[in-house]
Amino acid sequence: MSGGPAITLKSQPIDGSNSNSGNAAGQQQQSGNNAAAASSSSSQGSAGNVPPAQEGTRQNSLQRIQQRKQKVFNLPEAQKLAKLSMYSACQAEGCRCTGWKTPQENRHRDVESSYCPELSEECRNASCRHPLRSHISHLTEISRTSMDDLLGAIIDMENLFMSMQRVEDEDTKKVYLYLFRLLRQCVLTRQQAVIRGPLGDPPFESPCITKAVLSLVFYKYNHLNPTELQTMTEVAKTFLNFLNHYNFESPSVRRSDATLTHEDASTYKINYTRWLVFCHVPAFCNSLRQFETSLVFGRTLLRTVFQYMSQQLKKKCISERDRFPEDKRSIITQMPKFLEALRAELLKDDSPIWDSSYRPPNSFVMQQRKRHQEVAPPATISAAAAASAPSSSKRSSVGEPVHKRAKKEPVERAPSENLDDLPTDVVLRAMKSVSESKTTNKAEILFPVNVSRDENVKAEEQKRAIEFHVVGNSLTKPVDKQTILWLLGLQLVFAHQLPEMPREYISQLVFDTKHKTLALIKENQPIGGICFRPFPTQGFTEIVFCAVTMAEQVKGYGTHLMNHLKDYSIQRGIKHLLTFADCDAIGYFKKQGFSKDIKLARPVYAGYIKEYDSATLMHCELHPSIVNTQFIAVIRNQSEILKELIAQRHNEVQKVRPGLTCFKEGLPSIPVESIPGLREIGWKPQMRPVRASRPLEESTDPEKLANSFQSVLQSVRQHATAWPFLRPVTAAEVPDYYDHIKYPMDLKTMGERLKKGYYQTRRLFMADMARIFSNCRFYNSPDTEYYRCANSLERYFQTKMRELGLWDK
Ligand code: ACO
Repeated sequence: MSGGPAITLKSQPIDGSNSNSGNAAGQQQQSGNNAAAASSSSSQGSAGNVPPAQEGTRQNSLQRIQQRKQKVFNLPEAQKLAKLSMYSACQAEGCRCTGWKTPQENRHRDVESSYCPELSEECRNASCRHPLRSHISHLTEISRTSMDDLLGAIIDMENLFMSMQRVEDEDTKKVYLYLFRLLRQCVLTRQQAVIRGPLGDPPFESPCITKAVLSLVFYKYNHLNPTELQTMTEVAKTFLNFLNHYNFESPSVRRSDATLTHEDASTYKINYTRWLVFCHVPAFCNSLRQFETSLVFGRTLLRTVFQYMSQQLKKKCISERDRFPEDKRSIITQMPKFLEALRAELLKDDSPIWDSSYRPPNSFVMQQRKRHQEVAPPATISAAAAASAPSSSKRSSVGEPVHKRAKKEPVERAPSENLDDLPTDVVLRAMKSVSESKTTNKAEILFPVNVSRDENVKAEEQKRAIEFHVVGNSLTKPVDKQTILWLLGLQLVFAHQLPEMPREYISQLVFDTKHKTLALIKENQPIGGICFRPFPTQGFTEIVFCAVTMAEQVKGYGTHLMNHLKDYSIQRGIKHLLTFADCDAIGYFKKQGFSKDIKLARPVYAGYIKEYDSATLMHCELHPSIVNTQFIAVIRNQSEILKELIAQRHNEVQKVRPGLTCFKEGLPSIPVESIPGLREIGWKPQMRPVRASRPLEESTDPEKLANSFQSVLQSVRQHATAWPFLRPVTAAEVPDYYDHIKYPMDLKTMGERLKKGYYQTRRLFMADMARIFSNCRFYNSPDTEYYRCANSLERYFQTKMRELGLWDK
């Protein structure tokens, strides 16, 4: 980080601020020590490994900072003005002095204790020599709150100055210096401290860590009973709490980590600077706005710190186990399991929890919120760490600073709140009413004609009247008798239902060790099944045979079998199902989400899947965040809730309108908003979604935009994984490439387009780059070097774009 951290200040730092601070800041040696202790962890390495005693020191320091502020706010006004004068420009005409300096004889006296200089005392600065009065003449009229705000900022500044002296790490020192200058300038100009510049504004990534962790709880643990689910929720909250008080290692410490690529290291440096500026320093300097780490950072930061941080957390769990109340010990015991699950999702490129569109159902979020209101705050792994939290409740225990700025708004709202157009209690009421009507109606319905087949099958499964098992033969492990009997039974089911298939062929595949069969068992007999072969390297599963015995067909078993196979595949990271469907079965497969439109590139499956002349190839893409065996029930439930909400609204409005006649009268269309009564029932014109931040294209000139693209393109070209994309693919090198790829793109062509001024907008530039990666992934299979290069380069490209503020959050 040569030349200072990558932040610019709202107003330029003034010259000579250091020399001035040497006077005032130097007088605060003792209190500065507190700040240095409060901020020391980042300079010493990681506070994740800070011993409890040191955490206690930090906590005490934060308390002392607040106590000092309170003491200053309670000083007589004359003393407060004297303190302010030390950082206020002299108002005498032509004087450039930026702060009153105590006369030589009083140098060691402290305005924060008994010393109250006379208004006539002259400034020690040889180029000033004006009385103290000249430094405060413009401040006498300001309100008490504004004065305390300024004094708070001065104390923060002095603390930063001391921290800066103590910190060893150069990167951290530079950030402290910038923040010190920012505060200095803000005090001088009496403005609020605002950080602007290439660091960007928080939140820096979407979804944020808090949201992803909440999604993980739903994704992994929603099947647990309520008590277990609550434990996992508390484990998650404990983890977030630990992260929010975690002190990250400085980039120089991380430089020694050989596993870190150059790209990772530079990304880490940016994130570390952001963390210092927006999360860490504001914890002890509350004139700066503070953000929670878990709410403003996402996967990128967590990936880089996870390994070390989770080790620290596990160690803490062990060392602090006995301090935990017994009823909370399960949090400690479940923590390693939770961390392992989170680690796996961090590594998976397509993990749904890191997909910003992934949302746990509203009902889950509401339940979590309800629980959150009912239960105590999350367990803190270290009481000391928790106590050091800059939460308002902790601060108030040592006296809420009068000037303290309003607590920040949550930077990212809970997932459901983004959607909310109805108040939570209205939705909860509708949910309650739906579930009550289900219970009351049950007894009255003799013939449940409206209950979906899916629900009947699930009810049978719950009662264990039917079971689903994945079975297969093995040459390396003993195969139990039950499995063999089921495989024999399945072979018969397939043979009866697929009479065109030679029996030997069916036996061969059912007993082949590379194939498995998902068996539907009723009264210990297989009544249906799907024989399949997974190709994990290719990312798909081939469905070989699928059948249900004649007597059990059209009862929903075929659908439930397929849903189980989908969930089974998703859990193993497979996202595609392929099958050659018999002519008669095309309808069934269509209903299961298969299509004749094959979205996978032929080279991915050609030569792997068994091809049949008289059958039709069909493809189903799996969405990793859908639990297929629950899907129908979820949709049904949602539609019932919607109907209930409509009914409730209907009762409230109670006005029947005559209906529109304009169409009969010949009008082809009318504006939606002119439909009578529509606004009354809550309809609002749709607004275009507003982007969180204005990307560069809207805020800059074309030349600046082109320069930014040039710099991104240059970096991308130089990346280690860019080699497959540097030039166009030639038909001589890859003869069938242009049979499959209709819109080729490469980095050379992009360079030429850039020169010709083709990229007038960010979207055009991004679209071409995306084309390079999607072409590659379409043509090549996932286990190829090319495919991996595309994934890696795409991530790098996004990072570069983000750095320049060219990427939507
Ligand atoms: N053509 C069109 N639609 C069908 C067919 C079919 N052959 N079979 C079932 N469906 C429909 C059902 O009517 C139902 O639709 P709905 O929900 O709109 O009413 C839906 O598909 C699912 O019905 P389920 O009851 O869940 O399925 P079922 O238990 O009947 O099992 C199966 C379907 C496996 C196709 C069964 O009918 C069967 O064994 N058929 C004979 C064997 C066969 O053709 N297998 C497929 C060969 S291709 C291959 O194996 C790769």
